[in-house]
Amino acid sequence: METSNLGAGIPGSLLEGNRFIRACLRKPVDRTPVWFLRQAGRYMQEYRDVRKHHTLIEICKKPELAAEVTITAAEKLGVDAAIIFADLLLPLEPMGLDFEFQAGEGPVVHHPVRTAEDVIALRTDRAGELVYVAQAIEKVAAHFKDRLGIIGFCGAPYTLASYMIEGGGSRNYVETKKLMYTNPIGWSALLNKLVSVLTEYCRLQVQAGADVIQIFDSWVGSLSLSDYRDFAFDASRRLVRAVQAMGVPVIYFGVETAGLLAQMAETGADVIGLDWRQPLDEGWRAVGQGHAVQGNLDPITLFAPPEILEQRVREILRAANGRPGHIFNLGHGIVPGTPVENVEAVVKFVRQFRLEQTHA
Ligand code: CP3
Repeated sequence: METSNLGAGIPGSLLEGNRFIRACLRKPVDRTPVWFLRQAGRYMQEYRDVRKHHTLIEICKKPELAAEVTITAAEKLGVDAAIIFADLLLPLEPMGLDFEFQAGEGPVVHHPVRTAEDVIALRTDRAGELVYVAQAIEKVAAHFKDRLGIIGFCGAPYTLASYMIEGGGSRNYVETKKLMYTNPIGWSALLNKLVSVLTEYCRLQVQAGADVIQIFDSWVGSLSLSDYRDFAFDASRRLVRAVQAMGVPVIYFGVETAGLLAQMAETGADVIGLDWRQPLDEGWRAVGQGHAVQGNLDPITLFAPPEILEQRVREILRAANGRPGHIFNLGHGIVPGTPVENVEAVVKFVRQFRLEQTHA
């Protein structure tokens, strides 16, 4: 059905690459590509079945399992991209920080980084230990071939530093900001170490077949624009550029970023991920036409009745106005308890929108 339009009068160059990668590069597409942040997770029965027998970290570290979970979610939903099943915090372990996921509490880092000595003790020579993520990507890439975009990912330096310093999630980021303001040398040494490890980690993922890398700066919205500029931007920019030099596009995503978007775009990332708090066209205007955007449905809309859900999906597609460089997604991850059929319905709405326009 979807590919039936492709041949008709479209020059050959339009057929190169799948629609997800094409949209990342702001090339025209036959319809808007769609995938979901946290598309493999606890809302899905198939994932919960695997989780009954394995911890989250076990799934991440066993390439067969990580690949299976990644593939199952992408196939079930019929999305245009598969994000590798892994976790943001995995690089902490080879850097020398132990952590665990405690039920209902999220991640806990046992000995958080608080002093210059703690930063000095962090290792940067063991990113190779994360090869299990690359092995999972190889399996996913072998399965999908060029059919879907394969997304590798890592945390941004600021967001990962916040986990290392706070020891877990945080409301006010007091410890992170204290270190940032009072120990600028320790702070920049920490971010430099993260850039170095994350660059090597992304290289493993790209060499294994990741088509695109998404950099999650999930908690960057905790920073004022001035603090983002002075303390976090440059490390993100260097990571973005280092990954692009490997030959793949970069998606740079954060939450509560309305005031930061123009500066985030200055990293040079190909795609900027938008959260749902502002209309997509306003966000895109802030980012500028030289970048693609990804987003930005409120994930909790997935609990709404189908009429409201469809209306919100269509509003976002209308705001994008068919301009090349829009990837449909949520404004943040799918939460546990989300009805899977509503996620599937969004895929259907995105596809239908394209068809209606064609036949209009
Ligand atoms: O399809 C996918 O997106 C799954 C792969 C994935 C996971 N974590 C698996 C996971 C991805 C892309 C992540 C990224 C991640 N991890 C982020 C950035 C994305 C974002 O939401 O902004 C962050 C901040 C983390 C850190 C993290 N991991 C937290 C805070 C938690 C606990 C929160 C919770 O929902 O309980 C996790 C656990 C986690 N990582 C789960 C999954 C599927 C759920 C826990 C489980 O299965 O036991």
